[in-house]
Formats: sequence, structure tokens, C-alpha cells
Amino acid sequence: MGVEEYMKYKVLIDSNRLQDRVKELGEIISREYEGKDPLLVGVLKGAFIFMADLSRAITIPHTVDFMAVSSYGSSTTTSGVVRIMKDLDAPLFHRHIIVVEDIVDSGLTLQYLTRLLMARSPASLKVCALLDKVSNHPEEKLADYMGFDIPNKFVIGYGLDFDQHYRNLPYIAYFESDELN
Ligand code: IMP
Ligand code: MG
Repeated sequence: MGVEEYMKYKVLIDSNRLQDRVKELGEIISREYEGKDPLLVGVLKGAFIFMADLSRAITIPHTVDFMAVSSYGSSTTTSGVVRIMKDLDAPLFHRHIIVVEDIVDSGLTLQYLTRLLMARSPASLKVCALLDKVSNHPEEKLADYMGFDIPNKFVIGYGLDFDQHYRNLPYIAYFESDELN
């Protein structure tokens, strides 16, 4: 598929706003984790671009690792049961973990993943999500650090995909066909 075949989309969060917010998150994390050498756990594939920028915005010593997960069930609804496709390279026992996610929708994936990681006895575990559809899980605050609270639209870009495409867009966008939702 060539770029010219991409469906029409509109920008929701432009590149400058993204970069400014990621810088702020990096500053907050750098302050709060001073002396703790945190381990950032990026959830593939969606978090790969956010992770790269966030890591460079963090000014204290830290390490990075990645997990790949896929949820069982159809592609449009999350079952909340997550299969690990790629596990961490090193144990997280006694490490200060920050799970780095692209987006929280229903929150089921994240809840499953954090439960699974907590069972490995980290020193602490927090979640940093770039985007959060807070209105889809109003009772629970799932991300400790959140970039943007977004409306309930399907979004693409900055790592997020539709059918594996659009991850390369330097901004967050949504499809024009989703305009009325
Ligand atoms: P949840 O379990 O409903 O929170 O689903 C979270 C996962 O679904 C995210 O990690 C994404 O991979 C995917 N996802 C949810 N909403 C979107 C979206 O608007 N665009 C792209 N992927 C999404
Ligand atoms: Mg994801």
C-alpha cells in the first residue's frame, strides 16, 4: 500500500503538542525516579515511537526493554486476555518498572499486563500512557502518567496503527469517516 492509498484522516494532536507533552512527561519521571534507575517496559508495537522519544526526554539513568503482546479474540473488541508474544529479556525483580503504552482504551489489556508483571515482584510498577480514552473506563484511573485524554475515536499515527499502517505519521490523527462519532 502506498501513501497515496491511505484513507483520509484529520490531525487530532499535532507534532509540536506531542513533543512538548513528551518532554514534560520526561521531566516529571526524571524528578520522581531520581536515584532509582527505572526500567521502561515498552509495549510493542504501538509504543515504539513514544518510547524512543520518552527515553530521550528522561535525563536520569534508566534502561529500556520491550514486550510484545496480543489480545485474544476479534480485532475490534479486546477480551482482556493477553498472550505474551515476546517477553522481557531480563528479570524485573526489585526494579522500578514504568510500563510505557501507546493508548488505554477499555483498559483490559493494561490491567492484565500489570497483574502479570506485579506477580514478578518489582520494587514498584507504574504506567505511562501517551493517550487515554478516559471516558471508556470512567471508574478507574489506569495510567499514573498520561499524555492526553482523548475522545472515543479510533486514532492512528506516532506508533499507532490501523491494519499495521499509519504508524509513521508524526502526529495523532483520526479518520474522517469517524468524524461523527
Ligand atoms: P484496551 O485493552 O481496550 O485498553 O486496548 C488497548 C490496545 O488496543 C492498545 O494497546 C492498542 O494496541 C489498541 N487500541 C485501542 N484503541 C486504539 C486506537 O484508537 N487506535 C489504535 N489502536 C488502538
Ligand atoms: Mg498497545
